[in-house]
Amino acid sequence: MHDPKASTAHIINGKAFALKLREKIAAKVPDFVKASGRKPGLAVILVGDDPASKVYVGSKGKATIAAGMNSFEHLLPANVAQEDLIALVKKLNDDDAVDGILVQLPLPDGLNEQEVIAALDPDKDVDGLHVINAGRLVSGQKAMVPCTPLGCQILLKDYLGDLSGLNAVVLGRSILVGKPMAQLLLNENCTVTMAHSRTKNLPDVVRAADIVVAAVGRPEMVKADWLKAGAIVIDVGINRLAPTDSKPKGRLVGDVDTHNAMAHVKAITPVPGGVGPMTIACLLRNTLLAAHRRNAIDDPEI
Ligand code: GUN
Repeated sequence: MHDPKASTAHIINGKAFALKLREKIAAKVPDFVKASGRKPGLAVILVGDDPASKVYVGSKGKATIAAGMNSFEHLLPANVAQEDLIALVKKLNDDDAVDGILVQLPLPDGLNEQEVIAALDPDKDVDGLHVINAGRLVSGQKAMVPCTPLGCQILLKDYLGDLSGLNAVVLGRSILVGKPMAQLLLNENCTVTMAHSRTKNLPDVVRAADIVVAAVGRPEMVKADWLKAGAIVIDVGINRLAPTDSKPKGRLVGDVDTHNAMAHVKAITPVPGGVGPMTIACLLRNTLLAAHRRNAIDDPEI
């Protein structure tokens, strides 16, 4: 049993887990190349020059190549016309060398994200954002599952094994994280509560949780005394604090006050080095799965 007085939390090392997962994925690529005569390919579209998005897209490209896949980067100016962006998506839909398409979000003001996502071929939608994939996930069919919640689910299952019957609270209700996360936890037989900015008595709601997934994008919002002793905490937030003399770039923190929560919870993901690296590993997984499914080859075991 967890004794909150005697221990400090186990740190769930997402970075190490993601590296192992990426190795497993890379090891399956040669079988696909043998069966199909080509490498799996991931196309990433970046619109505008948001510095954080550029870093993410750069990391995704490097990881894709390191896994033995093809990476196709499409950089468009922030003032690109909606119809030109959609034309590019459709061209990639029709390109046989492309198995996965990711449009880096958020798009600059003036572009309609929903329309762009709707233009994606659902079978190439490695972000799992198309309504067809959201519907497949809810109805229990084979879906492309959004990478960040998938990474959280994998870490939780690795740490806990069976999640059946546990109380899970998901903070945040975005299409990219909160909503699919709740669905994945429900599929694992958790009792799921979705909390958000209008939730009443939020600390009390969180205190009932065996599993907390925080995805609100507010630095250190979840306080230690909101957490049940022995809870498992998955921190999806990546927030950069204001620069200080000792940290001129600003410190990166999650949505949870990890420093104070450590003495209280059973396990927690760090920021950085927790969920973030799992997102990229799951993107590679989804690309490999999309490549297999498009070629009517059975899913590889990963
Ligand atoms: N922006 C932040 N995270 C993500 C992600 O997982 N996918 C996409 N497309 N954009 C993002």
